[in-house]
Amino acid sequence: MKIKKAVIPVAGKGTRFLPATKQVPKEMLPILDQPMIHYCVEEAVLSGIQEIVFVTSSGKEAIENYFDRNIELETFLIKNNKQELFEKIRKIGDMIEIVTVRQKEQLGLGHAVLCAKSVVGKEDFAVILGDDIVVNNIPVTRQLIDCYDKHHGSVIGVMQVAKELTYKYGIVKGTSIDGKTLKMQGMVEKPKPEDAPTNLATPGRYILKNEIFGALERIERGAGGEYQLTDAINMLCLEDKVFAHEFEGQRYDTGSLEGYLRATVDFALGREDLRETMITILKEKRKLI
Ligand code: UTP
Repeated sequence: MKIKKAVIPVAGKGTRFLPATKQVPKEMLPILDQPMIHYCVEEAVLSGIQEIVFVTSSGKEAIENYFDRNIELETFLIKNNKQELFEKIRKIGDMIEIVTVRQKEQLGLGHAVLCAKSVVGKEDFAVILGDDIVVNNIPVTRQLIDCYDKHHGSVIGVMQVAKELTYKYGIVKGTSIDGKTLKMQGMVEKPKPEDAPTNLATPGRYILKNEIFGALERIERGAGGEYQLTDAINMLCLEDKVFAHEFEGQRYDTGSLEGYLRATVDFALGREDLRETMITILKEKRKLI
């Protein structure tokens, strides 16, 4: 089956970025001059995804509007001879087909994904967390789709973390089938280093077989009283083939202030027009510390 749809859950409250997220969705906070969600949607487009399903909640309208056309702004830019900016803005409105569904109560990531069931239909699909950015020439979702095409099962994107940091992540358990892929036996949420089955963490990229919806309907509330996607994936591991694939790329946890800051500095260093400015700033600061 061809993976054509990506579900991006953006209904969370973004408490780590309060008070900014009192009014602005976390996913709309910019890394330089693009909101973080733009990088995720770009990743989906470059991975061959044809339709994005945003799972939203009240107050997140800015995300849908961002990916819509803004005729008034386009007219203004044309009138003021800002052709380059006009083209940039026009392109965002035409990037990809967008559908939104509402998560009426924030009952966890598993619940958010289940909200997309009627729009996804009978297809297998990708899940991209809107507050994780991965930079790589071959986009991470594409890497996972290639693994799905090869092994015909669900694929969970994983990355190596230091053993002492396993307590921060979902950690996978399984047996290696090639250098980068494991056949999964399950996942453990935030294990202590001594209890962690591997050091492979799951930052927020998935290709899921449609059967995940059945599992999501059967799970009970888990950690934090929320419906956890992890619990449904563990259920799927008992019934179906699930793989963990170690992707290539630099991952930024832009849902945390530290990750957000790191991404801002690195992205500026990576941009021709900002690199020198960022180096100058860093050098100046270095003298003061
Ligand atoms: P997070 O827990 O990282 O996001 O969920 P959050 O809840 O918005 O942020 P904090 O922890 O309060 O700062 C991971 C992703 O899952 C979505 C979030 O929007 C985020 O993109 N999510 C989470 C939902 O869509 N619905 C939920 O019920 C929970």
